[in-house]
Amino acid sequence: MKSIIDSHIDKVKQFSNEGWSLGVCHGVSHWERVERNGLLLATDEVNRTVVRLFAYLHDKWRVDNEEDLEHGKRAAENLPALRGTLLAWLTDEEFALLCKACELHTVCHSTGNLTIDTCFDADRLDLMRVGIIPDPEKMATECGKQYAANMELFYADTGTNEEYYFFDEEY
Ligand SMILES: [Fe+2]
Ligand SMILES: [Fe+2]
Repeated sequence: MKSIIDSHIDKVKQFSNEGWSLGVCHGVSHWERVERNGLLLATDEVNRTVVRLFAYLHDKWRVDNEEDLEHGKRAAENLPALRGTLLAWLTDEEFALLCKACELHTVCHSTGNLTIDTCFDADRLDLMRVGIIPDPEKMATECGKQYAANMELFYADTGTNEEYYFFDEEY
């Protein structure tokens, strides 16, 4: 049975998908894998709700599939408009963490905050879809570094393999 949080997150996912026109590279299949990766990386200190929401919101305000370094900042600027509706159920602390994680994911490698750093690594562990092998030096968490240094372990723990990430769709 779905939990209340699952239902809230489903609505956020629907919101992000509405009007999405940039294809699959930064679209819903990527967001689902970022959520999966984040839950895999999350230690007890990590706020899983924030990690799951980051997955569905961090790329929502991209304007193209190029580098678009401003899309993190744009996400943080747009999230307050959802605070009274889609994100009304979050605590102030969760909302602040979500905004920071989205804002910084385009410009920062690590923050020292485990929840935010888990968001970053969850996203980076999906770089395989664009043919980039994650660099252990650029990961923010211990677990992220271990996976980047041993992708076979990551494939085993996610039930995937290298071919799974071969990205050949138009975007
Ligand atoms: Fe992004
Ligand atoms: Fe992303």
